[in-house]
Amino acid sequence: MAQPTTTDALRQQALESLAAAADQSALDTWRAEWLGRSDGRITTMLRSVKDRPPEQRAEFGQAANRLKGELEAALAEREDVVNAREFARLSTEGAIDVTLPGRPQRRGRLHPVTQTMRDCVSAFADMGFRVVEGPEVEWSRYNFDLVRIPEDHPARDMWDTIWMESSRGEDDRQMLLRTHTSPNQIRVMERMQPPIRVIVPGKCYRQEATDATHEWMLTQIEGLAVDEGVRLSDLKGTLYEFARCLFGEERRIIFHHSYFPFVEPGIEMAIDCFICRGSGAECGTCHGTGWIEILGGGMVHPEILENMGYDSEKYTGFAFGLGIERVALLRWGIEDIRRFYQNDLAFLSQF
Ligand code: PHE
Repeated sequence: MAQPTTTDALRQQALESLAAAADQSALDTWRAEWLGRSDGRITTMLRSVKDRPPEQRAEFGQAANRLKGELEAALAEREDVVNAREFARLSTEGAIDVTLPGRPQRRGRLHPVTQTMRDCVSAFADMGFRVVEGPEVEWSRYNFDLVRIPEDHPARDMWDTIWMESSRGEDDRQMLLRTHTSPNQIRVMERMQPPIRVIVPGKCYRQEATDATHEWMLTQIEGLAVDEGVRLSDLKGTLYEFARCLFGEERRIIFHHSYFPFVEPGIEMAIDCFICRGSGAECGTCHGTGWIEILGGGMVHPEILENMGYDSEKYTGFAFGLGIERVALLRWGIEDIRRFYQNDLAFLSQF
C-alpha cells in the first residue's frame, strides 16, 4: 500500500489498525510497527525531517511529534480496554475467582522449648536473678575438675560427651561440648563477688541412650546464689516459687536427696508424672516412680567457694541445674522428649 503522505491519513490508518487489535500480542505488534524505536513508522518519519526542504522542516517535525503523542495516548487507552476485557473473560471462565479469600500466610512461631526457656528465665528474673551466658564448647577443667569431678570419678561416665580432637594433651587443656551448665558456677564466681544471684541458660550435650525423657542435646538453666547466710531453705523457697509460676498451684513437687560432687548437701526436684499420675508401674515417662525429675541442686561445696577465694565461713551459696525440655514435657503433657527435635511441623505448630 502506498505511504499516505499527510499526517491525517497516517493517523487514520494507525487508529484503524489499533482498533482492530484485540489482545496483548496484537497490541505489541502494533506498537512495534508504529512506535518501534528502530524502525517504527513514526520513528522513521521523525528521522526523515532533516531530508525535507528547510522551509517545511519545522511544520513537518511538529506535526510528526504531535502524531506520536496522539498514538501513544491512543495505545494506552486501547490497552486499558483490552485488559479489562481479558480480565472479564478470565473471571467468567472461572480462571480467576475474585471472590475467593486470599491464601493465608503461614506465621512463624517460637519453638516450644524456646517458649519454655523464656518463661523460666522470666520467672527467675522476676525473683532478682541476672542472666549471663557461657560457652557451649568448654574446657574439661571447668566442666569437670573445678566442679570436683576428677578424672577417675564415675560421674565422668555419666556425663560422657563429644571431645575436641585438636585439644588432646594435658587433661585440663582438653575441650569438650559441655555436659551441663555448671561450669558457669565457676566462671561467674571467677569474675564476680557476692552477693551473687545469676542464672545461665544454654545447651548441653551428653552421650545418652535416648528414650522418652533423655536426649543427647538438652537445654539447661544453671542457677547460682552466693551471699552471707544463704540456706537450703532459700533454695527450696526459690524453686517452689519457680514451680508455682510455671505449673500453677495444683502440681505436686517433691525434693529428694541426691549426690552431685559440687554440692553438699545435694537435692533433686521432681514433679508428679502427668501421664500416669503415679499409678502405672509400666509408665515409660516416669518409669513407674510417679515423679519426673526436672532439676538437680544443692548447697555449693565449701571447697569450691574456697577455691574461688571466698571465705566459706562467711559465705554460703546454692546452685541448681534445671532441664528445660523436661519442664516443657510436663507443661504440655508431651509423652516423648525426642519429638522436640524431629522438626515435625505438624507437632511443633501446636504450641
Ligand atoms: N549439673 C547438674 C546436672 O546437669 C545439675 C546440678 C546443678 C546439680 C547445680 C547441682 C547443682 O545434672
